[in-house]
Amino acid sequence: QQSWAGLIETYRPYLPVTDTTPVVTLLEGNTPLIPAPAIEAQIGRQVRVLVKYDGLNPTGSFKDRGMTMAISKAKEAGAKAVICASTGNTSAAAAAYAKRGGMRAFVLIPDGYVALGKLAQALLYGAEVLAIKGNFDQALHIVRDMATSYPVTLVNSVNPYRLEGQKTAAFEIVEALGTAPDWLCIPVGNAGNITAYWMGFCEYHATGKSDRLPRMMGFQAAGAAPLITGQKVANPDTLATAIRIGNPANWEKAIAVQSASQGQFNAVTDEEILDAYRLLASQEGIFCEPASAASVAGLLKVKDQIPTGATVVCVLTGNGLKDPDTAIKHSQSSFKQGIAPELKAVAEAMGF
Ligand code: F0G
Repeated sequence: QQSWAGLIETYRPYLPVTDTTPVVTLLEGNTPLIPAPAIEAQIGRQVRVLVKYDGLNPTGSFKDRGMTMAISKAKEAGAKAVICASTGNTSAAAAAYAKRGGMRAFVLIPDGYVALGKLAQALLYGAEVLAIKGNFDQALHIVRDMATSYPVTLVNSVNPYRLEGQKTAAFEIVEALGTAPDWLCIPVGNAGNITAYWMGFCEYHATGKSDRLPRMMGFQAAGAAPLITGQKVANPDTLATAIRIGNPANWEKAIAVQSASQGQFNAVTDEEILDAYRLLASQEGIFCEPASAASVAGLLKVKDQIPTGATVVCVLTGNGLKDPDTAIKHSQSSFKQGIAPELKAVAEAMGF
């Protein structure tokens, strides 16, 4: 008997499925909530910080939570093919779940701006990959039109089943802490995930499983921060390619979450993202992708506002292995090459 049966089985009463819904699962969810003492030390006051490491899902990102729902419902409706636009993670998850469900997966990606690991996944899972000479926003526009005119089901986060699946991360956090955190820090691109987390926290609060609601603290990359400036960004630019988005599909929902939770949205620079990315890896032992580190970069940026004694959860949305190029290019670790294969030479290189 296995102890974890995937999030649809676990949270069935909270999800729009029936006994006849064919469940397509890779046993996603149930990811760890890890204490982060190095981040606490940076804050320097008595604040409890934990990270929700959703990079440990089957395809390495939180998208699996939404995709088990979206693909199961697509299969239930008889779909033969799904489509999405993606900065990479959605395409990997869509491909894996669609293939497991016996469907075709078409993915539109911005040519040259998808991290290597994500492209590798989509290709090996068997997606039909279409790279456009344009950005994510343009790709999303095309697939939305495509899904209205052709027999393909859209599985971007404008598909409501995606958010239903993703809200389960909030359930897991409430279960782990016994209540909701005071703050939830989360990277924001299309703003589907922040919307889903808020749904989850509200549902558990309404059923009495938590005695509070968190402030939702959303962070965008400075070069792709339409929710902070209030203006669409025609040419979004950030090394955190996962959130390189200038016109979020869930814009109004995100603003509603911000006001309902008395939350706050802020921008973080690529340098701040890289500092948090390296801190997480080199001091906490947690390798996330750059976009995910925006949650920690953001927390450190607004740390003076955290009430002493508060509990803060930062969401780490994707696994660092997704983007090996950025890791190698921006690590500050010692890497000596060309050493002779002898004890003495190695000892010398070690500084002994
Ligand atoms: N973090 C990662 C690692 C992501 O891949 C994304 C979105 C986000 C954060 C932002 O989540 O869009 O719900 O606000 N990635 C999408 C994709 C756009 O295509 O994989 P959001």
